[in-house]
Amino acid sequence: MTGPAAPWALLAELTHACPLHCPYCSNPLELVRKSTELAADDWARVFAEAADLGVVQAHVSGGEPLLRPDLEEIVASAHRAGVYTQLVTSGLGLTAARLDALAAAGLNSVQLSVQDADRANSDLIAGRPSYAAKEQAAEVIRAAGLPFGLNVVLHRRNLDRLPEIIELGERWGADRVELANTQFYGWALRNREALLPTREQLDRAKQVVADHRARSRRPELVWVLPDYYEGVPKPCMGGWGARSITVAPDGTALPCPAAYAMTDLNPPNVRDHSLAWIWERSGAFNAYRGTGWMSGPCGDCALRETDFGGCRCQAFALTGDASRTDPACALSPDHHLIRDRTAHAEHETGAAPELVYRRLGGARPAPANQET
Ligand code: SF4
Ligand code: FES
Repeated sequence: MTGPAAPWALLAELTHACPLHCPYCSNPLELVRKSTELAADDWARVFAEAADLGVVQAHVSGGEPLLRPDLEEIVASAHRAGVYTQLVTSGLGLTAARLDALAAAGLNSVQLSVQDADRANSDLIAGRPSYAAKEQAAEVIRAAGLPFGLNVVLHRRNLDRLPEIIELGERWGADRVELANTQFYGWALRNREALLPTREQLDRAKQVVADHRARSRRPELVWVLPDYYEGVPKPCMGGWGARSITVAPDGTALPCPAAYAMTDLNPPNVRDHSLAWIWERSGAFNAYRGTGWMSGPCGDCALRETDFGGCRCQAFALTGDASRTDPACALSPDHHLIRDRTAHAEHETGAAPELVYRRLGGARPAPANQET
């Protein structure tokens, strides 16, 4: 019997601490405390084992990875292992000196997030003033000459400004702009009513992307598929346990970052097992690998090798059972769970619901300017 194909990417979540409070954060509702974070030595072992397993690229992420004072040491260990590194950052704290030190340690590229092209709305969504710091961070990245990606999570409250967002990417000198339609798990699911766009908003946005691509290749646009209106699920993570490994700040190893919320998954920890054992033999990574686990409409569907039954985290979040067909699929017996929400979003005319902001130790309903 042959084992699973090698993973090629590692998402290294160094910390859940973050100066921002984005209401669509992909981190779990129960954030990991600093006291349980992996040390730099642990990360060095993880990168070495990942490289042995076949991983070629690591997204060094969080929370905000710049809050780790030993970030340079961690990046250097990935570089020594021969793994390409991308820093995924809010930009807060990214000075020229810090980026120089990270580049000297072997950092290969940077992905900066911004919440909107409109300064006030960007600050509102981030839950604190931050746009100006991001503008400065963009200058620092451009001056360092590292490959530069700009990430913008799209939703009801910024989607109509997509032309301005693309123009911002051009102005800030990004090589690529990732237009990440909100995926509704974790904090985003909690804020779904406030963030779910209308079909009309999405149709207009798709046209803006098509028009830009027809006109120009710079910046390159990456359109992360929305799945609430399509009736077709996304091939989430390229399949469960198929391409990448997430290691959470406390060492929990997951086939997908959002899988932290699956209460019945029993994920392994890199403190207890090698990454090779985790990838090849752990129950969590094998639970929804391939197609053998499928039942219901996926079991004999012609698309099961194409979309892998959609998203396990969404199936779990909406039905409590990760083995069910993703409710985003029109063939799912649970599709009404999605359809009811889109119908509601289409007819929503009242005051926009309040955002629930992400924070360690629980949510809070209104923005503030202090750091956690
Ligand atoms: Fe994909 Fe399953 Fe829907 Fe078929 S039934 S399209 S495999 S999610
Ligand atoms: Fe986890 Fe889709 S987000 S499988």
